[in-house]
Amino acid sequence: MKRLRFLLNCLLLLPLLLIFTLESLLKLFIPKKRKSVTGEIILITGAGHGIGRLTAYEFAKLKCKLVLWDINKHGLEETAAECKRLGSKAHAFVVDCSNREDIYSSAKKTTKAFLPEMMRNNHGHIVTVASAAGHTGVAFLLAYCSSKFAAVGFHKALSEELAALKRTGVKTTCLCPNFVNTGFIKNPSTSLGPTLEPEEVVNRLINGILTEQKMIFVPSSISFLTVMERIFPERFLAILKQKINVRFDAVIGYKIKEQ
Ligand SMILES: NC(=O)c1ccc[n+]([C@@H]2O[C@H](COP(=O)([O-])OP(=O)(O)OC[C@H]3O[C@@H](n4cnc5c(N)ncnc54)[C@H](O)[C@@H]3O)[C@@H](O)[C@H]2O)c1
Repeated sequence: MKRLRFLLNCLLLLPLLLIFTLESLLKLFIPKKRKSVTGEIILITGAGHGIGRLTAYEFAKLKCKLVLWDINKHGLEETAAECKRLGSKAHAFVVDCSNREDIYSSAKKTTKAFLPEMMRNNHGHIVTVASAAGHTGVAFLLAYCSSKFAAVGFHKALSEELAALKRTGVKTTCLCPNFVNTGFIKNPSTSLGPTLEPEEVVNRLINGILTEQKMIFVPSSISFLTVMERIFPERFLAILKQKINVRFDAVIGYKIKEQ
């Protein structure tokens, strides 16, 4: 009886599904308004290189106050100097983000420490950098995929919790790119397209943050693959994965490409 009532309630939701689907389609053609972040405090972890560094530069151009964390002092100092040259205030701290004590003693500010303050003010934005590997399993990336699935789960649960607590002023964004050309993964390739340039990923990230997008896939086609993975038969997916042909140096027997 309970199940029947649930099914009936779901059927009654169908008109809403239609309306919201049409709304989403319509929104694809309307440019989204970007929020202003001038003067906001932005903490970036891993700011000494790659995606973190370029993100810092973009927020520096938007005249934000930057707090930059990285384990690599030299890279961090270079990023901070460039942010200052771009006209923003930048404070750099050598922090090992895998070390809880280091984080607390360095700044007493992690997501956990930030969140109560953000929730009290109902204002803020938490960005989780995950990966396409946070949605699909990749051979020989066992630990990496596990941590990225956890990052996606963290983002989703946090978003739900903020909504449940009616703290909708605290926004969340999760970045899930395919391989990016930062040197983080050696000689990556897939038949989905060329390895992404970090500038392209950071442009999508900044735009996603300023337009308060929840999930950013780069390239966008990754989102179709995540849906396929849920509905297509396993044998078909195995063939599809062969065609996508994910390669990088860590794959056993894979010959290093000529540079
Ligand atoms: N490059 C890719 O192909 C790719 C693809 C998808 C997702 N990502 C994700 O994007 C993020 C950034 O990757 P990237 O390509 O810019 O890497 P990167 O190697 O270019 O930069 C990472 C930075 O993080 C710093 N760092 C590493 N460990 C740290 C620690 N424990 N504490 C503080 N700082 C630390 C490094 O010193 C470095 O400056 C990562 O979370 C990565 O998983 C990267």
